[in-house]
Amino acid sequence: MRKPNIAILGATGVVGREITKIVDELKIEFNEIKFLSSAKSAGTKIDFQGKTYVVEEACPESFDGVNIVLASAGGSTSQKFAPEIVKRGGVLVDNSSAFRMEKDVPLVIAYVNDEDLKKHKGIIANPNCSTSQLMLVLKPLHERAKIKRLIVSTYQAVSGAGLAAINELREDTKANLEGRTFENKAFKKPISFNVIPQIDVFCDNGYTKEEMKVVNETKKILHLPEELPISCTAARVPVFNGHSEAVDIEFEKEITPQEVREILENSFGISVIDNPDNFEYPTTRDASGVNPVFAGRIRKNLAFDNGISLWCVADNLRIGAALNTVRICKKLIEMELY
Ligand SMILES: NC(=O)c1ccc[n+]([C@@H]2O[C@H](COP(=O)([O-])OP(=O)(O)OC[C@H]3O[C@@H](n4cnc5c(N)ncnc54)[C@H](OP(=O)(O)O)[C@@H]3O)[C@@H](O)[C@H]2O)c1
Repeated sequence: MRKPNIAILGATGVVGREITKIVDELKIEFNEIKFLSSAKSAGTKIDFQGKTYVVEEACPESFDGVNIVLASAGGSTSQKFAPEIVKRGGVLVDNSSAFRMEKDVPLVIAYVNDEDLKKHKGIIANPNCSTSQLMLVLKPLHERAKIKRLIVSTYQAVSGAGLAAINELREDTKANLEGRTFENKAFKKPISFNVIPQIDVFCDNGYTKEEMKVVNETKKILHLPEELPISCTAARVPVFNGHSEAVDIEFEKEITPQEVREILENSFGISVIDNPDNFEYPTTRDASGVNPVFAGRIRKNLAFDNGISLWCVADNLRIGAALNTVRICKKLIEMELY
């Protein structure tokens, strides 16, 4: 197998740092690796696999000879550099929402729709964090019983909004406990001791962009019909890391909670914790820092025919961003698609 030259674009950010860790964890074999950021963090040192690398400011020439770029530097940065990367024969695996719904850009969750990678034309998009964890759960259930209708409510951690948001939860909490006033900047409302029913901006239909990402990306990844009804409500909660989701699914075919449990227990990347009698169900603390998507509270949904309700929790920085990015990189190498 050929070994690629890899660049991590946005290496100094929350997601970029996780990507760096996971490249090591998944034992990605590369020829050369480089770390890129904006001018602000250029010169920062990164210790990786026993060597010290100096972070470089990204410019078009940074991508000369680079085969795979793992990017988490925001949409405008990806848009600026994508043509430069593709022109030089590289493949961009992008974490931003810039290209996700473009027709020629595969939107991929590794181990869910790997075959879509074969259609790439130089850019591959990594789905939104709240969509990502859901896909690993829904794919095997859809294969067995076919999704007819889907309702998702998310409880999303602040790490999904970057470093500034993490710091804001810490500072706002301290200020609140000490009786000081605090000016919130990363969020539209105070995040400490609060739940904010807005993530990203509102669309004309009253949903937020984050909610519509779940609706549209789910259909693209699972190849569901456009008219299939999906609804999402996304809320930000004062949790540092780990997104939780309450998921209500109506299926075309009958399926029991026990069958759902067994299917998920045997599915890639999922860990089932589901013994409510012993207070065993997944929480964000179980999920933070580890790779599985956790599922629990699996029960018959009382509002739908052939309905199942479940609770699903995952590390949003891992499966929702960095882990899937690096898994895609691994698949590109294995499938020789770069
Ligand atoms: N956090 C999540 O859970 C999550 C999940 C999915 C997707 N994403 C996406 O991933 C991206 C990064 O998120 P994050 O949370 O890691 O943000 P972050 O902590 O703010 O990090 C941003 C990174 O991008 C770099 N950057 C910014 N502007 C740049 C430019 N013009 N040229 C080169 N590098 C530049 C920054 O470099 P400096 O250090 O020099 O500023 C930093 O390394 C965003 O597109 C976000 O939507 C995040």
